[in-house]
Amino acid sequence: MRLTVLSGLLILGLLSVRSVNAASIYAGQSKAAAVCSQCHGIRTPSADAPFPPLAGRDDEYLKTALKQYRDKTRKSDIMNAIAGSLSDDDISNVAMYYARLKP
Ligand code: HEC
Repeated sequence: MRLTVLSGLLILGLLSVRSVNAASIYAGQSKAAAVCSQCHGIRTPSADAPFPPLAGRDDEYLKTALKQYRDKTRKSDIMNAIAGSLSDDDISNVAMYYARLKP
């Protein structure tokens, strides 16, 4: 009984998080791990890597950059191709994830 109440609360909690539709740092993290980290690195964006480090950068800056890559107002063969498949949610999520990641 106690368990049912608890899991009920948990499900309600999950639902309310979903309905807010706020950027999800967790979704951002998995996207970053699956796609971005191959180039940008998750934990060790080294200074001599050929790719700009993203950790700890301004959230709005990252979102703007990704939207510019997506609509090709900022040119980069690589990033235009990658950002082309990102939704607005993906962009908010990865931007939030990287902005909060310690550089
Ligand atoms: C195949 C390698 C590669 C992958 C994968 C990749 N990037 Fe990039 N990214 C680059 C390169 C190269 C640049 C520099 C492009 C330029 O000159 O504008 C860049 C630039 C950026 C910038 C601009 C940084 C700045 O300082 O202005 C952002 C933001 C960015 N990437 C985000 C992402 C995100 C988010 C993902 C995952 C969804 C991702 N990238 C995946 C190679 C990659």
